Amino acid sequence: MKKIAVFASGNGSNFQVIAEEFPVEFVFSDHRDAYVLERADKLSVLSYAFELKEFKSKADYEAALVELLEEHQIDLVCLAGYMKIVGPTLLSAYEGRIINIHPAYLPEFPGAHGIEDAWNAGVDQSGVTIHWVDLGVDTGKIIKQVRVPRLADDTIDSFEARIHEAEYKLYPEVIRELLDN
Ligand code: GRF
Repeated sequence: MKKIAVFASGNGSNFQVIAEEFPVEFVFSDHRDAYVLERADKLSVLSYAFELKEFKSKADYEAALVELLEEHQIDLVCLAGYMKIVGPTLLSAYEGRIINIHPAYLPEFPGAHGIEDAWNAGVDQSGVTIHWVDLGVDTGKIIKQVRVPRLADDTIDSFEARIHEAEYKLYPEVIRELLDN
């Protein structure tokens, strides 16, 4: 059985959906007070949290992550609202084994504000993308994506909610496919 770790910085709703469907070996948060850690407790999923500022460098921080991943023999790292760019230390150890979810139809609207940027651009559809992680920001090879329409009577909140619903469907689908292969 392949082992999954999830990295999340904040709310963790995607982590929750994943953990409800698959055994998650552990969740990591780069914020010690992130809500995702409470979700992990409630779901009895092992969690770790430490912060970049507690290390001398990003390389040291990522070396600690690699150590955790190796200790748990993780096969697949699922970034789900992990708000840091993956650096060379983590990537060189786990390239081809890290995926990310992005709340837009890449290469449209990369970056930290994919939903808001699509909304402000006035698009009539956006989407959700799952991709392999490389050193860029949301630039890795696309695994799967779906379109999500913007409806005439949408507010940004209803638009955002529809995108999250699409995420909760797409991420488990892709994880299932990767675990089966
Ligand atoms: C999701 O929209 C994800 O696509 C993006 O950050 C958000 C995280 O939400 N990368 P949550 O923490 O899973 O609730």
